[in-house]
Amino acid sequence: MSSNAAISLESMQQAEQDLPDEPRARPIPRVNIQAFCEDQNTASVIQKASEDRRLAKAHVTVQMGGVESAVTFYRDASTPNLIIIESLLNRAEMLSDLERLAEVCDSGTKVIAVGQVNDVLLYRELLRRGVSEYVVAPTSVAQMIESIASIYGDPSTGPVGQTVAFVGTKGGAGSSTVCHNTAFSIASVLESDVVIADMDLPFGTAGLDFNQDPLQGIADALSAPERLDEVLLDRLLSRCSEHLSLFAAPIALDKAYDVDTNACETVLDIVRENVPWIAIDVPHVWTAWAKDMVLKADHVVMTAMPDLASLRNTKNLADQLKSARPNDRPPILVLNQVGVPKRPEIPVKDFGQAIELEPRVVIEFDAQLFGTAANNGQMIEEVSEKAKAADAFRSLANILTDRIESKSEGSSLLAPLIERLKLSKVLG
Ligand SMILES: Nc1ncnc2c1ncn2[C@@H]1O[C@H](COP(=O)(O)OP(=O)(O)OP(=O)(O)O)[C@@H](O)[C@H]1O
Ligand SMILES: [Mg+2]
Repeated sequence: MSSNAAISLESMQQAEQDLPDEPRARPIPRVNIQAFCEDQNTASVIQKASEDRRLAKAHVTVQMGGVESAVTFYRDASTPNLIIIESLLNRAEMLSDLERLAEVCDSGTKVIAVGQVNDVLLYRELLRRGVSEYVVAPTSVAQMIESIASIYGDPSTGPVGQTVAFVGTKGGAGSSTVCHNTAFSIASVLESDVVIADMDLPFGTAGLDFNQDPLQGIADALSAPERLDEVLLDRLLSRCSEHLSLFAAPIALDKAYDVDTNACETVLDIVRENVPWIAIDVPHVWTAWAKDMVLKADHVVMTAMPDLASLRNTKNLADQLKSARPNDRPPILVLNQVGVPKRPEIPVKDFGQAIELEPRVVIEFDAQLFGTAANNGQMIEEVSEKAKAADAFRSLANILTDRIESKSEGSSLLAPLIERLKLSKVLG
């Protein structure tokens, strides 16, 4: 071997050693990640990680100020899917800092802690208290990507997405309108990614409501569910706004749509691996697949009108849900189109009492507002931000995403930590 060749081989080996470790992570789903750093180096590592192709779909923000800033920030804002929190403190102080963060954390938020203490006991203690990962600084871009990916690649953490089935208890009750507007609120106010799955294949209105006329959509996925992966999913979704995408219905009547229950399940499973919220617009039918979809959803929103037929159907559906899902929260009842001039109606209070389920949201009939929104292909919020109905959709979004309840209850992944600390104070 000539000396030149030897030199070049040596320099190639050196160059290879200088390359950062290639992270072997899978692409990270469309989650929101917010980092609060203490050290500028950590902040720039996370910033660089956020520009990596594997995080292309995630929304990442990086701020300084560590736990202090995070606690102030989340007092008035909902917490994202993942918080990366850096603390330069020692073990005891770090644990007490995380306790303060836990008090403002919404349920479902995951936490990666970054610290300077290389201590296996601290690591175990953090995991025991609900922190998903502990990374010792200084960290690298590859390590950061792998830590984030390990949370979303781990089957024990469950899928990223939650499904919400929106179902009308009478044809034309306004279930699709409630579905689209609430999804829009989750996407715009809470800045969380949402996919609307329009299951009303022949007559769905989601495309019209968002002024979209895509060539492909949910029917393509349902016809060959085994082909669906994150790349194809991206092609089949039509983007409505930064955080909202639509899995549109084909709206063609040249064929009949006999939807397969298993196909529905497979498709939804793939979507929920990739997106935090899936709003399913279930048409007013009770076929095997529609029933299965409603009974298996993480949350059910029933939209009713204040009349007798709707009351009877709402009662039947609520009973069915209660017996089939004894360990789930009761469905959320929306009473819509209340106060149509001259129409005799069942009063809201009586409606709730008769079926033993309080309407969580009541929306007045407003032909002008809803008609304008439908004709313009806009959401109520876009037509009139101050309208009472816009407020109703925002509160429904908050109820679904647990924003209000969990803040007031202080529940979170770290809740056991708070409980134990309270207990140790009492015992001590
Ligand atoms: N609160 C309201 N005030 C006035 N009009 C409303 C209200 N809510 C919905 N609408 C209108 O009622 C009509 C039916 O609404 P929508 O299509 O959402 O009902 P649906 O329950 O999904 O019907 P389907 O049974 O066909 O699926 C739409 O034209 C919509 O704009
Ligand atoms: Mg509908």
